[in-house]
Amino acid sequence: MMPVGPLMIEHRLIERMIKIMQANLETISKEGKADPVFVDTAVDFIRTYADRCHHGKEEDILFRNLAKKNISDEHQRIIQELIEEHKMGRDNVKNLVEAKEKYVEGSKGALKDIIANIEALVKFYPKHIEKEDKHFFLPCMNYFNDAEKDAMLNEMREFDQKMIHEKYAKIVEGYEKRN
Ligand SMILES: [Fe+2]
Ligand SMILES: [Fe+2]
Repeated sequence: MMPVGPLMIEHRLIERMIKIMQANLETISKEGKADPVFVDTAVDFIRTYADRCHHGKEEDILFRNLAKKNISDEHQRIIQELIEEHKMGRDNVKNLVEAKEKYVEGSKGALKDIIANIEALVKFYPKHIEKEDKHFFLPCMNYFNDAEKDAMLNEMREFDQKMIHEKYAKIVEGYEKRN
């Protein structure tokens, strides 16, 4: 498998979660209220899976290795756009968490911020994924020989292996710091 293989497989799961978030927006408008537990679940999915696990492998492995190659101006420009879009997604998630916290505390006005930030994520991800899948990932593979591609794939597997340990160690450390 090429190193973009796991990234494309991950895109499919992100798309399924985005569909669920889209459906949740319809529920919010029908019922006039948000489900804070769903927001927590969506935030955890985006932060842990889409951002840390998926964008992490894109930025720390694929983009890092592309930076060592003499890539075209077009590909250079796309990398910068993708990094900016990853940052935008992070900001949306942060704003969504803040809106949900205010909503739980009783702020009625926070509902529209929850909606706006879920809407932003639902709009952003499909376009971002399409740019990577259709215009970037496969042409980028031409910069690497087979040994380099295999090494990247292995590094991605190691990255994934470490992730679950990292996630739960952070949770424990977070509680320890409170005491
Ligand atoms: Fe990306
Ligand atoms: Fe991606």
